[in-house]
Formats: sequence, C-alpha cells, structure tokens
Amino acid sequence: MCGIVAYIGNRQAYPILIKGLHRLEYRGYDSAGVALIEEEDINIYKTKGKVADLEHYAESKNTQGTIGIAHTRWATHGEPNDVNAHPHYSENDSLAIIHNGIIENYALLKQALEAEGYTFKSDTDTEVLVQLIEYIKETNRCQLFEAVQSALKQVVGAYAIAVIEKGNKNEIIAARKSSPMVIGIGDDEYFIASDVTPIIEYTDKVVYLNDEEIVQIRRHEPLKIVNFQNEETKVDVQKLNMNITQLEKGGYDHFMLKEINEQPRTIVDCIRGRINQSATDVKLSGVIDHKEKFLNARRIIIIACGTSWHAGLIGKHMIEEFCQIPVCVEYASEFRYSHPVINSDDVVIAISQSGETADTLAAVELAKSKGAFIYGICNVIGSSIPRATHSGTYIHVGPEIGVASTKAFTGQVTVLCMLAMAIAKEKNSIDHQRYLSVLKSLYSLPNLLQEVLKLDSQIKNMSLIFTYAHNFLYLGRGYNYPLALEGALKLKEISYIHAEGYPAAEMKHGPIALIDNEMPTVVIATNDSVYEKTISNIQEIKARGGKVIALVTKGDQIVSSMADYSLEIPPVDECLAPVVSSIPLQLFAYYIAINKGRDVDQPRNLAKSVTVE
Ligand code: F6R
Repeated sequence: MCGIVAYIGNRQAYPILIKGLHRLEYRGYDSAGVALIEEEDINIYKTKGKVADLEHYAESKNTQGTIGIAHTRWATHGEPNDVNAHPHYSENDSLAIIHNGIIENYALLKQALEAEGYTFKSDTDTEVLVQLIEYIKETNRCQLFEAVQSALKQVVGAYAIAVIEKGNKNEIIAARKSSPMVIGIGDDEYFIASDVTPIIEYTDKVVYLNDEEIVQIRRHEPLKIVNFQNEETKVDVQKLNMNITQLEKGGYDHFMLKEINEQPRTIVDCIRGRINQSATDVKLSGVIDHKEKFLNARRIIIIACGTSWHAGLIGKHMIEEFCQIPVCVEYASEFRYSHPVINSDDVVIAISQSGETADTLAAVELAKSKGAFIYGICNVIGSSIPRATHSGTYIHVGPEIGVASTKAFTGQVTVLCMLAMAIAKEKNSIDHQRYLSVLKSLYSLPNLLQEVLKLDSQIKNMSLIFTYAHNFLYLGRGYNYPLALEGALKLKEISYIHAEGYPAAEMKHGPIALIDNEMPTVVIATNDSVYEKTISNIQEIKARGGKVIALVTKGDQIVSSMADYSLEIPPVDECLAPVVSSIPLQLFAYYIAINKGRDVDQPRNLAKSVTVE
C-alpha cells in the first residue's frame, strides 16, 4: 500500500528518493511522484504507473535539490491517474504533501474549504488536507509546524504525512496516526519513510514515530517530536538489525521465489534460541514473562487477516489439541465491528507479517481497551502491532518483499507451534513423549523444507499442464484444511485464477457440483489422523471425472495410485505437516503465474501492507 520516502541533508535528494521508491515498490501501488525544493520553488513530478515511468518522465526535468518528498500511491479516493498521484500542491502552490492512509471526514472539510474559495484539482482526500494546512497557515499567520498540528486536530482518519514548504529548504514536517512512519538519522541528514527499506542502506539509526506524533525535521538540527497535546516527547533512537542484502533478489528471478527457497534458513532463524539443541525444551520469553496470563486464560482469540488468518486456524488446532484452551479465530476486520464479548481473562493473539495491517491493529486496540492481554506474532520489528501489544514473539524470517506471503506463513505456524508447546508444558496438558516428538519435528523442519524444495522441477513441469485451468478446488482436512485455504489464496493472488479452499468432507455439501474434467482439485492427503477419510473424498472426485493433484506422504501407494499427479512430502508430525506441504503449493502457484506472464511480486490490485480499512 502507499509508500513514503523523504530526504533532507547535504546530498542530492532525487536519486535517494527514486531508489527509496523502488525499495517500496513491493508494497503495491499504481502511481508515483516526487517533490523537490530548488531555489525557492517546489517542483512536483508525478505519473500513473511504475517508478520507472516516473524516472522516464522526470528525465528532462530539473531534479536538483537537497530536500524532497516522494510517494507511491495505492488508489483509495479517485482512480489511479497522474492528477491523483502524490505529491499534491496546496491552492497557492506554497505547500506540497505526501500522505498514506485515509482522511475519513475529507468531504466535510472540502466543503468548508470550497466555501472559502479553494478549488481542487484531484479527487483525493490528500489534497483536502494540504489545502486545509495552507488555509490555517495563512489565516493564522503561523509556522508550518503549527499549521500542520492544528489541521490534524480537525482530521478524522489514518495518516502518515510529510509536508514541505515553498522557499523553505530547511524543514520537513511529518506526522502519523495509525499509519507507520520511521525516520533514519544519518550524518547531518534525515531520511523519512513508511518502513525501513528505503533507509537501511544509509543508516542503522532510526526513530519510529508513535501514533499522534508530529515531528519537525530541520536541517542541521536535532529532531523535535511533539504529541497532539503539544507535549515534547523523547526521541527514542533505535538500532536496525537488518542488512541491505536481505532486500535484494539474491540471484532469483523474483522475490517470491527467493523467499520460498529461503525457508529452510528462515525457520532456523525462527527457532534459534527458542528450542534447545537436544530438542527437548522450548522457551519463549514472551510466554515465560506472562505465564499466568496463559495459564489462567479462559479463552484465546486469534485475530488476523489473509494468510496470517490461515496460520491462526492452524494455531487453533495446536492450542486446542495440546493446551486444551478453547480458541476462536476471527478475521480482524469482522472482529472490530461484531460487538465482540471480550473478558479480562481472555488472551488475544494478533498475527501479522507486516505488523501494520490496519484492521488487525484496530482489533488489537479494541481488545486492549476491554482489558484483554494481547500477544503479537509479527515479523517486522518495531512495527505498530508489536508496539501495541503486551507481549509477543517475532517470527524472525527477515523482510518479506513478494506481495504473496510465503516464508511469513511458515514462520507464523512455527511460532504458533512453539507457543502451543510452551503453554502446554507449563499447563502440563501434553503427554511428555508427544511434547518431545513435536519438538523434534520442529527442530527437523529446516531439513524437511530443504528436501521438499527438491520438488521444484517436478512442480514446474506439472504447472504447464494446469496453467490454463479457469478454476481450482483445494481440499484438506484437520490441520490441512487451513492449508487448502492458503494454497487457493496463493494461486488466486498471483495467477488471477479462481481457486477455492474447502474442508474435504464439505465438498459433498455443495462444491462437488463443480467437479468435472476441467476443474482440477488439489488434495492435501498426507498420512495423518484423517488420511482414510480424505481417501474417500478423492474417490468421490475421481468418480465424477475430476483431475486430482495430491500431496502425499513419501512412499504412499494408495493415494498415488488414485491421483492423476502426486507430490511426495517427507513425513513429519501432523501438526507441522502444513509447514512442509505449504512449499509445493507456493511453488505451484508461482510457476502457474509465471506461465501466465503475471507480475508475481507485485500482483495487480494487491498491497503488501494493508494500512487502510
Ligand atoms: C497473502 C497476503 C495477505 C496478508 C494479509 C495480512 O499472501 O499476503 O493476505 O496475509 O494482508 O497481512 P499481515 O500479515 O501483514 O497482517
């Protein structure tokens, strides 16, 4: 979703801004723009399309200046076009703004400004905000900082903004509410961005802006941060623990393929320091420090969206099986508006790769306001959700750049498994032999993932046969039902083929009507407690002429003889089978999308970090 990058310092801003926009491309966007101050004027260049289109457009323009703001827009208000792209000028071209988020009361504000003679070029809510700031600045004859502060008091909604002013090369004003913003501190220079990716190659010193904070970033001066009550807040400088190679493709054609192949290593990073070398004990400090909360929890509520929600469904199985605590898994977006009954002895687990998903963040705030204990399972360190939770565990899988989530999913399920083990051990609710066997499986995951990645060429070849199917069904039972949902989501996101995930036994209650020889079904039929039942479901498909691609446990003869194609998965404890089996499903989606010529890393209409409702 929209990306922000801004710079003030001694270097030329334009190359830094363009590079930063490229780094933010993974977030998903449909137009891009940049504003620079040179001499007295603000020069804005913006265009629909990719950052490369912007570069092409700006080639013959004056791109000089040591201060600038830049943006990738993911359209919410108004179609993706040149005019609606950011930055936006104010009425008198005295200010320029970039904005992530949504100004909910923009229509009312616009009406009031129109009554004062203001005119609008774009359909965006953002232009309303910059006009309001200019109006306040001119009527109150105040500094930009005060004008921004005063305008934001009138605004309802979510935003991260950066504003510059004509004739003022020395200052950028930035602010945030429910939309992330981070400031990098270089050598007499500042970088501002919506996440650390554009900053990381210049400095490892960052300040994460908190909600409802405004920052004055002045050349050669220390940062000044105030909250909406105008109280100065502490500038908390943190050290980044990430390097630039983590943001590159590392020889792969796409980030998604790189991230799929990285999983043996990311799982090592995920379990490191948490499971001991003999695989006999698991320690999660987030649980140890709040043991009583988990031991006394009457219920656990998992909130998440998309792939993270699928991981949550697997977590539910694990926690209910091993800890005997009832768990419900809610879409964060539904949870917020469903009048949820939340008690102070509920534990809420929020799962989010980005840590910025607006719905999940809002659900966290809601549950917190009702007194629940909130535990986060996130990837992006220092992002909003981990900062809003009481405790949590990072999945530590490194930056996920491909829009389709892959390594975050396996990291989330791995953390959920460690969490279930940690609680079960404290509660004494798991048989010790089973505990040891699950830990052993957790410890062996990286090797199993390495093994399953060898299916790559088999899947690549098989994908050629299925590229032109218009619909797919994905079936699984028990622990593998959420994986069926996840496999279908991966395929539809990046190949734009319609795919549905279903619990295998539910097929006969409706979807079986769709089965014919043009509707392939992917069945996850590994050897687990519902294996025999799944075989019956495969027979039902074959009896109706359906084509079956089956994921089977290595050495399986029965399903392999029934299915049209089978992919062999190394054996693993059934609770962790979705981690291993997710890899072939990710590869299958990837190769189909490649065969169809899709933009796998930035599929249409999708954003990596969904920071609006
Ligand atoms: C799917 C995907 C999305 C995200 C969802 C939640 O591949 O990437 O469905 O899983 O938008 O995002 P996070 O986990 O960042 O909260």
